[in-house]
Amino acid sequence: MNDSEIQAVLRALEENRSHRVGQLQELLRIPSVSADSRHHGDCRAAAQWVLAHLAASGCDAELVETAGLPIIYAEWTQAEGAPTALIYGHYDVQPPDPLDEWTTPAFEPTIRDGCLFARGATDDKGQVFTHMASIAAWLKTVGRLPVNVKVVIEGEEEVGSNNLERFLADQKKRLACDVAVVSDTAQYGNGIPAITYGLRGILACEVTVHGPRQDLHSGVFGGAVANPANVLCQLISRLHDSHGRIQIPGFYDAVVPLTDEERSAFAALPFDESAYCASLGIDALTGEVGYSTLERRWARPTCDVNGIFGGYQGEGPKTIVPARATAKITCRLVPHQDPVKLTQALEQFLRSQCPSGVRMEFRSYHGAPAVLCDTSSPYMAAARQAVEAGFGQPPVMIREGGTIPVVSSFKQILGVDTLLLGWGRNSDNLHSPNEHFHLDDFHHGTTASAHLWAALGA
Ligand code: BES
Ligand code: ZN
Repeated sequence: MNDSEIQAVLRALEENRSHRVGQLQELLRIPSVSADSRHHGDCRAAAQWVLAHLAASGCDAELVETAGLPIIYAEWTQAEGAPTALIYGHYDVQPPDPLDEWTTPAFEPTIRDGCLFARGATDDKGQVFTHMASIAAWLKTVGRLPVNVKVVIEGEEEVGSNNLERFLADQKKRLACDVAVVSDTAQYGNGIPAITYGLRGILACEVTVHGPRQDLHSGVFGGAVANPANVLCQLISRLHDSHGRIQIPGFYDAVVPLTDEERSAFAALPFDESAYCASLGIDALTGEVGYSTLERRWARPTCDVNGIFGGYQGEGPKTIVPARATAKITCRLVPHQDPVKLTQALEQFLRSQCPSGVRMEFRSYHGAPAVLCDTSSPYMAAARQAVEAGFGQPPVMIREGGTIPVVSSFKQILGVDTLLLGWGRNSDNLHSPNEHFHLDDFHHGTTASAHLWAALGA
């Protein structure tokens, strides 16, 4: 690599800025909601868009069918002797609901206040597109890349990546690489870029409590018949004690305590609790006793109800004992906790607490273990350089509380560590109404990505 090459790439990226924003807007216009089967045609359209872009850049690109939504695979591997980076991202997005809380519609990308608003703007279309754009710029401007790249962009991340492991295992040889690169996390804060070295894992399930054959008059039958909604609330209330400790037997068995080094590293990061509360519209933070907010978010397991429903949901009162009630539950897991074992433990615990007079139905959706990445590799050193070059600030090292299931699969199946380079911000409203991506972050991320290929190749 020589300096004039990267300079040429950076110039091309600079000149191309508004065109690139326009391209991203095209992708964001496609409502590729993987959770909703009515949008699976749109998911396929998004896959096609990604495929066409990668192919036009000069990569060999193809669409790989799975048992679910397709994976786009592309590669450019002519950098003889140079390392190989495997870039991963997802073209699927979360459902846009609640729709009426969006200032402009979720799938009509709009620029306001220096931000691009749309579902998927930061999670993950905007972020993965930074790599697609930097690869295209290198190939177009210099005619080659300083590293070999393999690109995997899937469409089922937001529903647990259930078909991705199969693809990784089947294509293990072809996917051979030295390091994985994923931009699907966030910076630490405003003007504080970060590299994430740890993610929590997850288990996701749904529990339904069934009572009488059909809804009943709560005056005529109430008091004598178990109310499934009441029972469900009781079950949920038993998941935690008053210190915020999860009560599922064996839940903490595998959890390794945080080291003093890590606790002090977390404590050294700037964190303004009252500004944080204000930004969320709450008046206090809460959680497991004995842990700081960053520890609770990044390194302690949780159990959360994601949705709860049952009985009458319409306007005005209605006096019934509902026939059933359901809760969607996820636990965030930390290193060494096993999602399969703990899903069983959760089911058993709920069954053990379930009174007679109702029947409990339990459904497991997906699971993924937590990950910790190697921070001492030469690839990590290259990533730090690239982030600093792109953002004008050295990155801080952080963990995150979210989950990217593929990261543990990369380690287990391909034997590689991942560089988690997040260009977004946790205040970008991912999974929420008015999701956005700061255009500055988009451009800095694209620049950092262009530098990354040079740094990894050097
Ligand atoms: N981009 C997120 C994960 C994320 C967000 C990590 C912010 C760190 C900081 C990703 O798309 C996501 O939301 N993943 C799901 C995975 C689940 C459905 C298996 C999650 O964490 O809920
Ligand atoms: Zn997400």
